[in-house]
Amino acid sequence: MNLWSKVDQYLSDGIVKPDAALEAALEESDKAGLPAISVSATHGKLLWVLAKLVNAKRILEVGTLGGYSTIWMGRALPKDGRLISLELLPKHAEVARANLKRAGLEKIAEVRVGKALDLLPQLEGPFDLSFIDADKSNNPEYFSWALKLSRPGALIVVDNVVREGRVIDAKSRDVNVLGVRRLNEMIAAEPRVSATAIQTVGSKGYDGFAVALVLS
Ligand code: SAH
Ligand code: DHB
Ligand code: MG
Repeated sequence: MNLWSKVDQYLSDGIVKPDAALEAALEESDKAGLPAISVSATHGKLLWVLAKLVNAKRILEVGTLGGYSTIWMGRALPKDGRLISLELLPKHAEVARANLKRAGLEKIAEVRVGKALDLLPQLEGPFDLSFIDADKSNNPEYFSWALKLSRPGALIVVDNVVREGRVIDAKSRDVNVLGVRRLNEMIAAEPRVSATAIQTVGSKGYDGFAVALVLS
């Protein structure tokens, strides 16, 4: 194990403390053959902290996978809070629903199946927090929708905006890199948000996430 994975383990065990339902969600996702691309525990806990900070009552997620990040954010919601998570693949949604049920979040968190771009127009805002973590090529469109559905003071978090540094390759033809670069340009030019992006190393390698504060 490389050093940053060991440190991630140390931080997870020490201060993050994922609960049994979170651990089970990862195990069950693995058993079901889902890819191991959930956020790390440290990032999941950050999503929880951010949701608490904005006093989130309504959360939007694009890209559910097995519901690991969904559980982290759902845990920050009050009993009458609501989280809607969009997932393309029925198999992922099924695993996520079972994981959410085990976490006691079945009344708070709903997984909707389909292409996010087909589902987003059916949603009603406003959301207090949006987490974008699906196919990276559509990041700009997801960001536009999240912005449209946000209240002033809301946060929009986008995962995987560094991609081992490939994001700075202006000549890249990788659709994922192109999606992230278009997203960054869009955030930079958007007067309704003020944003930053943080590079990260950890159990998921070298990547990063963007956080945009919706101003108006
Ligand atoms: N947020 C999750 C990880 C999501 S992985 C976590 O951290 O635990 C990305 C997910 O996005 C995958 O499950 C994938 O099936 C889904 N996805 C890919 N393309 C999509 C699309 N067009 N619409 C909705 N979901 C999509
Ligand atoms: C991939 C997707 C993710 O959301 C992630 O956090 C890591 C990797 C991927 O598609 O490879
Ligand atoms: Mg991700």
